[in-house]
Amino acid sequence: MSGKTFYITTAIDYVNGKPHIGHVYEKIASDVIARHFKQRGDDVYFLTGSDEHGIKIQKTAQKNNMTPKEFCDSNVVDFQALAQDLNLDYNKYIRTTDEYHERAVQKIFQKLLEKGDIYKASYTGLYCSGCECFLAQKDLTEDGLCPDHMAKPQEVKEENYFFRLSKYKQQIIDHINANPDFILPSYRKNEILNQLENIQDISVSRPKTSVSWGIEVPGDKDQVIYVWIDALSNYITALGYESEDDSLFKKYWPANCQMIGKDILKFHSIYWIGLLLALGVELPGTIFAHGWITIDEKKMSKSLGNVISHKSILEQYHLDSPDALRYFLMTTTSFGRDGNYSDEDFKSKVNADLANNTGNLLNRSLSMLIKYFDGEIKQEFVNDDAKELVEAALNAKKKVVENFDSYMITEAIEEVISLVNLTNKYVNETAPWSLAKDENTLIDCAKVLYNVAEVMYHVAVLMYPVIPDISQKILSQLGEEKNIADIKLDDLKWGMIQPKKIIDKASLTPVFLRIDSELAGDKKK
Ligand code: ME8
Ligand code: MG
Repeated sequence: MSGKTFYITTAIDYVNGKPHIGHVYEKIASDVIARHFKQRGDDVYFLTGSDEHGIKIQKTAQKNNMTPKEFCDSNVVDFQALAQDLNLDYNKYIRTTDEYHERAVQKIFQKLLEKGDIYKASYTGLYCSGCECFLAQKDLTEDGLCPDHMAKPQEVKEENYFFRLSKYKQQIIDHINANPDFILPSYRKNEILNQLENIQDISVSRPKTSVSWGIEVPGDKDQVIYVWIDALSNYITALGYESEDDSLFKKYWPANCQMIGKDILKFHSIYWIGLLLALGVELPGTIFAHGWITIDEKKMSKSLGNVISHKSILEQYHLDSPDALRYFLMTTTSFGRDGNYSDEDFKSKVNADLANNTGNLLNRSLSMLIKYFDGEIKQEFVNDDAKELVEAALNAKKKVVENFDSYMITEAIEEVISLVNLTNKYVNETAPWSLAKDENTLIDCAKVLYNVAEVMYHVAVLMYPVIPDISQKILSQLGEEKNIADIKLDDLKWGMIQPKKIIDKASLTPVFLRIDSELAGDKKK
């Protein structure tokens, strides 16, 4: 290991519904980043979880005739199942109803009270339960609705505790300006700087008469802590902050990358940062706000009935690995921008890139290796006259790393696909099947096949964070016995494949079947 730690977090999901493709999008992206940084040799800690308090959960539980906790317990199961369904390799799943979290949040609140950064005042405002926050009149649509939820916020007159956010305003602005990687993508920065101009102290509690489902304010039986304060704290309480054992906190904090959706950037780049400054805790490296996924170019909503889950997609296409979906979501738009899912795009993208360009390239070159050379790479096949290809493979690795430095997942993948395309061109131009026809050029055919195998080894390792199952299959067909997760980027260089028999006919199967192909159809039955 490099000795460097890498801590990545996701937003914690509200469990008042089922997980949908938007939740899944963020968790996959975070998993891809976590896997990539492990390949760099970093000591990675990957956190995700659920946000279980607040009026939204309280109301939905009531409708379902359950206590809020019973309701969360039954719903959280589907969110935790994402680990299996999508191959998410996280270290910890935090629930905000976990006792250690509740205790730590109370201590955090207490600290801020003692510091004088939390005070009591009365308040009149408009509360949107969808957002779980107060909105200003100017945030609303012409009809007085919350623009995100198209619902009328509730008028509230309450006695609340307030956090002195205004005290930290200038420090937050300075931090954003001094650290270009703090808010990524950088095109989201100005919107936050604008919001900071008018920032005021925020309400950080609600009276139990308005919402009872929450963590009690220490020393005040009538109030619960505002759900966003509770939720944001998860990123440090999960590591043991304000608990008996805070060794993980000492080891992994500050987070390198906090992955969230663009709709909650304000909470993370303003409120969260204010809290950390007040607590005297170091600030995270990057808050990355990804875009939103639409379905057939429409916003997903219960009323439109177009909410799609990963499950329905995996079932519809009889996919026993989530790789195709992971691949599609990571490439449907430049990561950071808004993206779209449609069945047509999904099929054509994964068929083109995974089945045709990548899968067929491997399959046809290994078929030739089996046919002409009994699946064996010999020492004399290993040469260095494919300079262009060698350079392209090394360059792809360099570009992948550079792109991941700023979490540009899509651009990283495009570099690998370019390498695949170049290699397809190389095979078509060198025509190894013709070279095999003549005794004198048979060795040249062998060299071409070796070069392609080397490239495919690189492709597998570089693509592993996105398509771990397919990458493992590619590697196995190249005669590599190692687990792909154990191969570090530092060790990836030209010459990975050792001269030996790497494959036989029985082991050669397509690493990815075209969706809707006859073979994939056979699998259904
Ligand atoms: O906001 N496309 O929870 P949440 C892409 N509990 N991302 C989407 C999406 C879509 N269509 N829909 C939702 C919350 N998301 C809070 C977070 S963090 C301390 C508390 C993303 O269940 C959304 O942007 O509404 C957010 O990052 C995550 O899914 C959870 O959303
Ligand atoms: Mg939301």
